[in-house]
Amino acid sequence: MPQRPHDLLQRKQAGLPISVLTAWDALSAAIVAEAGADAVLVGDSLAMVVLGHATTLPVTLEEMLHHCRAVGRGLAMAAGSHPPLLIADLPFLSYQCGADDAVAAAGRVLKETPAAAVKLEGAEPETLAVIDRMVRSGIPVMGHLGLTPQSVHRLGYRRQAQDPVAQERLQRQARDLESAGCFALVLEHVPASVATTIGGLLTIPVIGIGAGEGCDGQVRVTADLLGLTPRQPPFSPPLIDGRGLAIEALRGWIGSQRAPTTRGTPAAPHC
Ligand code: KIV
Repeated sequence: MPQRPHDLLQRKQAGLPISVLTAWDALSAAIVAEAGADAVLVGDSLAMVVLGHATTLPVTLEEMLHHCRAVGRGLAMAAGSHPPLLIADLPFLSYQCGADDAVAAAGRVLKETPAAAVKLEGAEPETLAVIDRMVRSGIPVMGHLGLTPQSVHRLGYRRQAQDPVAQERLQRQARDLESAGCFALVLEHVPASVATTIGGLLTIPVIGIGAGEGCDGQVRVTADLLGLTPRQPPFSPPLIDGRGLAIEALRGWIGSQRAPTTRGTPAAPHC
């Protein structure tokens, strides 16, 4: 039985760390599952990491569904008795145009892919209303605050919650998301002390990225950790130079291919 959103809460209550990794296809999904991730996120970062877009904004719901199904197949193929929880990002404008559309988009994720939860960004009053509708419709929702890449044109990619007013607002929004029914919260690129405080205020797990070591868990873009992306964010350094290793290995293979010794003239076809 795959893990459920509630399992993450139980890990927090038991003081066990939570590891979340992104995946974008069957290959990456099987790898992160076999590595032991508690949850796998089909993040909309795939727009940049895999599809080559400059931001996360262009990825469509159809594309997210397509990648999520592939990730689901990869998880089914992976060895291990306790498959991770599969969470899918709702892409830009799939949940900002009204609660009915938002529930329909999230519902498609749960009906048409093996994902058991969705993630969305922000905690504006409209977003809280949408989360409430989703949760009451049976759709588990993970929140995302701090650096929210879908707002890049408003906030940029800089560290958020840097002054006391912004920190107070972040705390309030985190509480609002918990009250709206989120089962977990991602905090991205905020001061460690703020993330730790919020983790202590909330019952639900706080999963950090660029938010220090005091969170209940950590999430990383797997391609960044493996050094497959040309550049990684400063708060997500690579564990290995995967790109360099792959290029070197492939160059070696290409170099090992010997030129054919004889180049025969192709025979004229029989007419
Ligand atoms: O899209 C994504 O990969 C994410 C993580 C950075 C949390 O939202």
